[in-house]
Amino acid sequence: MRIDKYLANMNVGSRKEVHLLIKKGIVAVNGVTVKTPKQQVKESDQVTVNGDAVDYQKYHYFLLNKPKGVLSATEDRSQPTVISLLAPQDRYQGIVPVGRLDKDTTGLLLLTNDGQLNHELLAPNKHVDKIYRAKIAGVADDETVKTFAAGMTLGDGTKLQPAELTILAQDVDHDTSEIEIKIREGKYHQIKRMFGAVGMKVVELERISMGQLTLPEDLKRGEYLELQLDDIMK
Ligand code: URA
Repeated sequence: MRIDKYLANMNVGSRKEVHLLIKKGIVAVNGVTVKTPKQQVKESDQVTVNGDAVDYQKYHYFLLNKPKGVLSATEDRSQPTVISLLAPQDRYQGIVPVGRLDKDTTGLLLLTNDGQLNHELLAPNKHVDKIYRAKIAGVADDETVKTFAAGMTLGDGTKLQPAELTILAQDVDHDTSEIEIKIREGKYHQIKRMFGAVGMKVVELERISMGQLTLPEDLKRGEYLELQLDDIMK
């Protein structure tokens, strides 16, 4: 590919900015100063800007601890999106959230420009487990566990696969519970609708794991870290 495309893809700057860097004579390929933005480079070439290496990495993977009040979308006219939480240099072309968390849901959300991985994690037949922790208005008990384990049918006729519910705490006096739930699907408002179907309400919802990924305890809401592909899928 052309050197200007290479550098723009690696977010060194826009094509225009990259042309200026080349004009300044500070871009080199394998130690030789680049004279024209049309120069061809391979991913294996050693590219430097001002002596700093710019390695080619096509795909990027970010694990975000999504805060409340942010949309799982790439852009929106009036509301902040998960992409706006990325530093400008990390907003690579084609970066999208892998699936969605509701605006008021927090926790683990993967962002990537690797379309193949995105598809593999979301495809219903791939069975990627997602674990959520929630505060519930209502007392979840063994009956609720059985109902969820049997694979329930929602009010609109949607048939769900079995879900694993673990009760962490019950407070009968205040009519609340804390639970963990493992699901494989990712249907619209799935967990809220599941509890709704048994007469309870989700008050707080956080995703704590997806596949082999776990939300790091020290990753604050709104913060993210970069991962490598084999952190996500081995
Ligand atoms: N289920 C929900 O109801 N909301 C989410 O954000 C994720 C799962």
